Amino acid sequence: MNPSDLRLQRKLLAWLLSPLLALLVLDTAVTWWSSRHLSNLAYDRSLQEIAREIVLDVNPGAGGPQLELTQAAERILLIDPDDRLFFRVTAEDGRALGGDPSFTAPPATLRKGGPAVYYDAVLQGEPVRALAWWAPLRSAGPNHLVLVQVGETLNKRGRLSRDILAQTVLPQLLLILMATAAVYVGVSRGLGPLRELARAVANRSHLDLSPISTDSVPAEVRPLVQEVNDLMLRLGKILDYQSRFVADAAHQLKTPVSGLKAQIELALREQDPQRLRHSLAQLYIGADRLSRLVQQLLSLARNEPAAAQAVRREPVDLRALAMQATMEWVPLALKSGIDLGFEGHEGPVVINADTDRLRELINNLVDNAIRYSHTGGRATVSVAMADAGHARLSVSDDGPHIPVEERSRIFERFHRLLGTQTDGSGLGLAIVSEIAALHDARIVLEDDGDGVGNRFSVLFALSQALHPQAMSAG
Ligand SMILES: Nc1ncnc2c1ncn2[C@@H]1O[C@H](COP(=O)(O)OP(=O)(O)O)[C@@H](O)[C@H]1O
Ligand SMILES: [Mg+2]
Repeated sequence: MNPSDLRLQRKLLAWLLSPLLALLVLDTAVTWWSSRHLSNLAYDRSLQEIAREIVLDVNPGAGGPQLELTQAAERILLIDPDDRLFFRVTAEDGRALGGDPSFTAPPATLRKGGPAVYYDAVLQGEPVRALAWWAPLRSAGPNHLVLVQVGETLNKRGRLSRDILAQTVLPQLLLILMATAAVYVGVSRGLGPLRELARAVANRSHLDLSPISTDSVPAEVRPLVQEVNDLMLRLGKILDYQSRFVADAAHQLKTPVSGLKAQIELALREQDPQRLRHSLAQLYIGADRLSRLVQQLLSLARNEPAAAQAVRREPVDLRALAMQATMEWVPLALKSGIDLGFEGHEGPVVINADTDRLRELINNLVDNAIRYSHTGGRATVSVAMADAGHARLSVSDDGPHIPVEERSRIFERFHRLLGTQTDGSGLGLAIVSEIAALHDARIVLEDDGDGVGNRFSVLFALSQALHPQAMSAG
């Protein structure tokens, strides 16, 4: 059994048993009090009997009452196997008629002509239960009274109340012990499936991300297991993506790196300064291409689906950003003989986006538009409102028609159209699609409106805070 199981088990036991124990303590206190009450009830009656017997032996006499209790009668009255008994008789004028002088004054509640009063006292250093009674002397008429006090040590009473206590509390204690055992067994049985689950997970290889079976798992734990399964599914996808990425990257880098090496070897052997210069120029182009490939690979890795947490989305004016990015491409477009233009919506178009990633997306689309448009062609970047709640960023060009059946495949990594001469890695559109996914944006590829070339559109949701009317219209 592992320690965490034990902890849960102990907690459950503690939760169940502490209230039971508290109840037991309370119940013991109440029972103790009532058992003392019961044992007093039982034995107080005999004190009254003794008092009555004693009064019968008081003679009213002419010169005041006299106690005429013989030694034998006293022995019979006062001898008890368990307890010591004491008595005292006092006349109305306070004259002691007989008995033990150590009795203290009776309690204030005692009334002449009233019933006997029972009280706790100490006699000769021993705690006693005592009775005090103003008893009428029948033979002398109802108005002649003597005070009779009888005391008895507590042995019998104590024994009786202990017996009562034991008889009620012991079974309860036994019940609690049995409940503890039952709860203990029940809890450890109940935790069995969890231990089973822990063992199943512990025995797994770290490569095994298949879902954990929920068949034998208790219903309360099933959501947890399902969450873990979901997590493993996502983890599996990421691991898959990453291992595919590493394999692809290694494969893609191998060729250009060996090419570079070969070119360097060639240049090293070159004697003619003119041709050496040419070789170095070729080398520079090769290194440039390699650097671009590495950059694209890094960008691809940076924008993988698992990067969602790293994305900092904030309100961005898509129109301003797209215009700025387009302007930066104008010199290169001019050099390639492409007429690059921008058409913007009036006023800002605010979306929630990660500015750097959004710029990267635009750059990749514009790069393609310039790269694949024929010399003398046009390329246009535009930002407009689409349906209510969405903004549309479009990049259209005069490039070669992308066949309908290729439209989804060109977004795959390393996929290039057959016969594409321009150099490139086949990663640009994969990056675009990753960034769009990170922004929950949709990409649409269609023929350009003028019939020549293609149009790549990305549909972003407008920032709600800044376009409330657009949202409510949708
Ligand atoms: N604007 C475009 N016009 C025509 N073909 C395009 C256009 N953009 C992309 N393509 C095709 O899709 C392929 C993949 O593009 P991309 O992922 O950017 O990779 P790369 O540009 O490095 O080849 C390109 O090789 C090209 O064949
Ligand atoms: Mg490209």
